[in-house]
Amino acid sequence: GLSEEYLRALPKAEVHCHLGGCVPTEMAARLAASHGVAIPESAVRHGGRYRFANFDEGLIVLNAVTSSMQTTRDFEEVTYVSLMTAVSGGVRYREYYFDPQNHPALSYPEMLEGILAGAQAAEKETGVVTRIVPAINRELGGEAAVELVQEIIRHPHEYVVGIGLDSDEKAGRPSEFIAAYALARDAGLKLSAHAGEHGDPSEIREALDLLKVDRLDHGYSALDEPELLSRLVVSQLPVAACWFVDYPPPEVPGRIRDHRAMAAAGVNLSINSDDPALIGPELHDCYFDSALHMEWTVEDAEKYSLAGLEASFADRETIDRLT
Ligand code: ADE
Ligand code: ZN
Repeated sequence: GLSEEYLRALPKAEVHCHLGGCVPTEMAARLAASHGVAIPESAVRHGGRYRFANFDEGLIVLNAVTSSMQTTRDFEEVTYVSLMTAVSGGVRYREYYFDPQNHPALSYPEMLEGILAGAQAAEKETGVVTRIVPAINRELGGEAAVELVQEIIRHPHEYVVGIGLDSDEKAGRPSEFIAAYALARDAGLKLSAHAGEHGDPSEIREALDLLKVDRLDHGYSALDEPELLSRLVVSQLPVAACWFVDYPPPEVPGRIRDHRAMAAAGVNLSINSDDPALIGPELHDCYFDSALHMEWTVEDAEKYSLAGLEASFADRETIDRLT
């Protein structure tokens, strides 16, 4: 099989990574203490690992961590530190989702300023390229989402390339966000949405038909509906999967079968870490597990490392510069 050193050194790009899921436990504990936020002790006191029992608990921890990020400087530090960790694992390009609505202490421009400062510092030192995709927290509904998109459009920046939709699929269907997505599309932003991670295939169909996404996050439940799966194959819509990254952390390889089936069907997949600090595996760990379980050749590894870039919302010139 391919060696861990080779897969770590392989230049990689990822397009599905949440900033709030990139906060090391010690930093989360420090930020929480300094801002008087209660993070569940059980979540951060396990030898530098977060611990939670399932996805819903993971989201609660994530919300506690994001509400501990309360200054521009906090955003800068999280961005810089997590990028440097990623670079040491071969990441050359990363797109960050972040949920502005999960940080009530700061305005959107204040958060953006921090992320940009951290990204530009890391880029200067290492060449790593960052793009930013503010995400709608679907639990907060369609009206708040429209307000968020309006705020994003009022503060354009070349590094802000699209919008996303995340958090609990049980708490907000794509159909609630048609207006927000239309607004973003008209402003020239690219569109992505989480669908079919825990939700059924109808969530994916709504993301395609009603939100008209340029990329799908997760998308696993397409396997339950052959017509939908072949639609993904025919369209070659990029699907940003998070292979071998599953909640809760001790049960990491929970979806090996699904990912094998998606790859075998010919879906345009990229491999991503989702929430590396929160869940555990960094991107090169995801590559290592993929190589092992899918019996990758060098060609497979190279194909996937580039798939991340082709799924990115960066402009052609940036993509070409990195390849
Ligand atoms: N926010 C962070 N990670 C997420 C995931 N895997 N699904 C939905 N929302 C998220
Ligand atoms: Zn995600």
